[in-house]
Amino acid sequence: MYSSSIFDTFSPQEPQRAPIGVFDSGVGGLTVLRQIYQQLPNESIIYVGDTARLPYGIRSQAEILQFVREILHWMQQQRVKMAIMACNTSSALALDIVRQEFNFPILGVILPGAKAAVQQGQRIGVIATPATAQSNAYRQAILEIQSNVQVWQVSCPEFVPLIEQNRIHDPYTIEIAKTYLEPLLQKEIDTLVYGCTHYPHLSPILRSLLPQQVKLIDPAVHVAAACSQELDILGIKNTHPPMPTRFAVSGCSQQFTQSSLQWLGYTPMVEQVCFADTVLS
Ligand code: DGL
Repeated sequence: MYSSSIFDTFSPQEPQRAPIGVFDSGVGGLTVLRQIYQQLPNESIIYVGDTARLPYGIRSQAEILQFVREILHWMQQQRVKMAIMACNTSSALALDIVRQEFNFPILGVILPGAKAAVQQGQRIGVIATPATAQSNAYRQAILEIQSNVQVWQVSCPEFVPLIEQNRIHDPYTIEIAKTYLEPLLQKEIDTLVYGCTHYPHLSPILRSLLPQQVKLIDPAVHVAAACSQELDILGIKNTHPPMPTRFAVSGCSQQFTQSSLQWLGYTPMVEQVCFADTVLS
């Protein structure tokens, strides 16, 4: 799938030392970053948050494609060895297209999440952004893996803005979460997939609103495992100590620093980048 020139973009002697690019519209991808820290502690990461243009989940496919291309071109300039779309909306609407356009591997979150879901249950609920829910990407991925399960998707347009505003424990957030989960509870789901990387930030609330037996699937865990496998296959897993994670956002860097502190447990150094300035060839 990848041309041999993939290795030309790395430091020729030591391609394994090149960073992995991880991107999301905002703090959602930090749930993936945390999993990479746990499962791949030697990897150097460049984290991109396209905060000036979030939420992605209410955008059209054309807009998402444009944003994703700009970010990937920027990542290419940074000589990443692999990119992870730590964003379900981008994975649902752009992954298959942009995979053909770049000469480094690009992983999405939906397939790893779908595989994990069918291993856990048969009555599967998916909560997602409006764009991801409308795309039907989870239903298709799940039913392609296993056709005899049932899938219900619920669009949750208010979650991402509430999480980005850090209103996790706000009574309004709890009320809206009840509303979103209600149709899935009526279907007596046994498994719930976080179909947006922002949603694991709400896990204490969502867990408290669901019956104990409902299993929660966080695709972040599984995309990090898929990344590890892919690095092994390509022979580019880093064995040296990693570089500090580099953070680049398109919106206000101070705001991202503040809001991400609680999810990361340290204060990141964040730079501001205009991804739209990336020249498309
Ligand atoms: N966290 C992303 C996702 O998984 C994007 C959410 C948004 O910006 O709407 O879909």
